[in-house]
Amino acid sequence: MSSSIRVGLLGCGVVGGATARILLEHADTVSQKAGVRVDLARIAVRSLSKQREISLPPETYTTDPWEVVGDPNIDVIVEAMGGIEPALDLILHAIRSGKHVVTANKELLSTLGREVMAAADEAGVDVLFEASVAGGIPIVRPMKESLAGDRVKRVMGIVNGTTNYILTQMSETGVSFTEALGQAEELGYTELDPSSDIEGFDAASKIAILASIAFGARVVAGDVHREGISKVTAADVDAAHQLGYEVKLLAVAEIEDGQVAVRVHPAMLPRTHPLASVRDVYNAVFVEAEEVGELMFLGRGAGGPPTASAVVGDIVELARNIKSESRSPGSAYYREPAHIKAQDEVGVRYYVVLSVQDQPGVLSSVAGMFAHHGISIASVRQEGFGDQASLVLITHHATEAQHAATFGDLEQLDAVKSVGSRMRVEGTSES
Ligand code: NAP
Ligand code: HSE
Repeated sequence: MSSSIRVGLLGCGVVGGATARILLEHADTVSQKAGVRVDLARIAVRSLSKQREISLPPETYTTDPWEVVGDPNIDVIVEAMGGIEPALDLILHAIRSGKHVVTANKELLSTLGREVMAAADEAGVDVLFEASVAGGIPIVRPMKESLAGDRVKRVMGIVNGTTNYILTQMSETGVSFTEALGQAEELGYTELDPSSDIEGFDAASKIAILASIAFGARVVAGDVHREGISKVTAADVDAAHQLGYEVKLLAVAEIEDGQVAVRVHPAMLPRTHPLASVRDVYNAVFVEAEEVGELMFLGRGAGGPPTASAVVGDIVELARNIKSESRSPGSAYYREPAHIKAQDEVGVRYYVVLSVQDQPGVLSSVAGMFAHHGISIASVRQEGFGDQASLVLITHHATEAQHAATFGDLEQLDAVKSVGSRMRVEGTSES
């Protein structure tokens, strides 16, 4: 074995740039923890003329990532380019050449994780991906290793920094959605296409990865029921506050009747729930397991330095593995597909606002419709009167299908002018 581990970096943007800086600035600590010197050998970028936050000899850089994955002297490839292609081909080539891989690419893992892990198993190398979920928070390794002997029942998280930042700014400083999104982009939190954050695709990828590890079977991004925050209004956030809730974009994966229910959507969370106080770009993952009970992992979920901290942690683990000729815990969770529960059958609670006629019998006909569909009402309150009357209801647990049928039929009642805002309620003792 050589006296150093040589790292090839694909991409030197927000994550790759901070990774390179940490490898240089913390070189002594990294080498001491790894038990072997870790050298940053080559870096692939798109543009050689861009200013970088680190100073390295020009020959370190190339615009040809194939040169880096094809370099026989490189032991570890760090993929921080993003996207599916050419990242997938580069990773597969690196693996088949016997190189270990670190990636922050949740989009790739949550769609083609099986192909990547199968290639790694065949080649006897490791693919580590701590940075792909919740930025700097150590969550992948604890789920894979520390909770290996427990049975996870539910994982509920705020796993997208951009949307949490936007919702926090809207709620606390009154800035518009567009202004808050602009700030998140400037801070390097967003994906190349910010609609990936806003519409919940990024969170769906992350919860698919976490669900696969938690439940030991492959969940892909396409399995996740997904709704983003683009329809959340300032009025929804205000209404939530009045009821003692916060609005968060939640990613939830749970076992229901032996099947995996997995979804991303905005939800109202009681202010007393630990996730409700997670602000700004912070992410948090709340895990419920049979033996350990409730756990919460909290930290910065996006941005260069936090994410790169997770990347460098993975590089150190790989360097140790190379030195000791061992492998990290396996990737069995990608082999078999999970049994996914259809979203229609998933049990949820709703907050809903009905614009109604302010006249005798309205409450009874509305309550009758919920009862007709087998839904019990947890609370109801009238706001306004006359032409402005509305009913604000929160339901008890019932399926999505029951709720959808009820909302549809309520529209047909003479007493109901319209079914307005509605949002799922999570994090109560019932859910
Ligand atoms: P980024 O700032 O856009 O950086 C991408 C880097 O890849 C740039 O250095 C770019 O070169 C290089 N690149 C792209 N295509 C290339 C190609 N064909 N050949 C050579 N170089 C190429 O992206 P990022 O925010 O660091 O994200 C990277 C990955 O980390 C993504 O998978 C993302 O989902 C994930 N991630 C990001 C964060 C975050 O907070 N940003 C957090 C967790 C995970 P140039 O610099 O020359 O343009
Ligand atoms: N765009 C992502 C976010 C980056 O906002 O959480 C971290 O994965």
